[in-house]
Amino acid sequence: MKRNSIKTIQRLKNIRPISCLTAYTSSIAKIVDQNVDVILVGDSLGTVIYGFKNTRSVTLEMMKNHGRAVMQSSQKSFTIIDMPYKTYVNKNQALDSAKHLLQFTGCQSVKLETDKTTVPIVSHLIKNKILVVSHIGALPQHFKDFSKIRLIGKTTKQKKDMLDLAHQLEEAGSSLLVLECIERELAKEITESISIPTIGIGSSINCDGQILVINDILNTDDTFKKPQFVKTYANFSYYLNKAVKRYDTEVKNRKFPKK
Ligand code: KIV
Repeated sequence: MKRNSIKTIQRLKNIRPISCLTAYTSSIAKIVDQNVDVILVGDSLGTVIYGFKNTRSVTLEMMKNHGRAVMQSSQKSFTIIDMPYKTYVNKNQALDSAKHLLQFTGCQSVKLETDKTTVPIVSHLIKNKILVVSHIGALPQHFKDFSKIRLIGKTTKQKKDMLDLAHQLEEAGSSLLVLECIERELAKEITESISIPTIGIGSSINCDGQILVINDILNTDDTFKKPQFVKTYANFSYYLNKAVKRYDTEVKNRKFPKK
């Protein structure tokens, strides 16, 4: 099976919405890959897999291992891998980290959380033939406490800054833009004014595609407070709990294993 290229994904703009999900492990990657257009090995694995409070403790080693597992278990989706916190503070470090991640995992592109100070780094990576997805709006790596994340684009200044940033990143050669928690009218304006696809998370239907965290849509942990924009498609924590309880009872009552 042929893997989606960035051109295949970019051609979907104005044709149909692009569907993206995160995946971090082999078993989940196999299922996600059969369905969506794009898989992101997100640094959200820090919170949903490792139980950290935020994404700042995620390391390059963690991303490398999960990225390789996802690549080995997927065949069709375009794959993006996150550059973790503090691995792209200057051009040289960013290029080393990106090369390292892509060579080890085989993923097709890297994603960077980007504000106006990071544009030269994005540009440097692209000049060195690395496909870059730029993530703008609310940037999780800037937050120790995710409950402090707010919608971006309510003020005229925020709107102008975001639009300028989107245009600069398109000009630098970004492959896609992820818009996180961007106000719906601003998301529309950005999406309509650039030629590369926008992928929204909490940024309304006015984007060219959507992404969510797989653990959130499956509700793998119901003690974990999810953002308002998340829709739960299956209640895994309920069924997991039920299955584990039943196993435990059967072992303790000598019902499992059978003779
Ligand atoms: O790390 C992540 O999962 C992300 C989101 C855009 C889903 O960056």
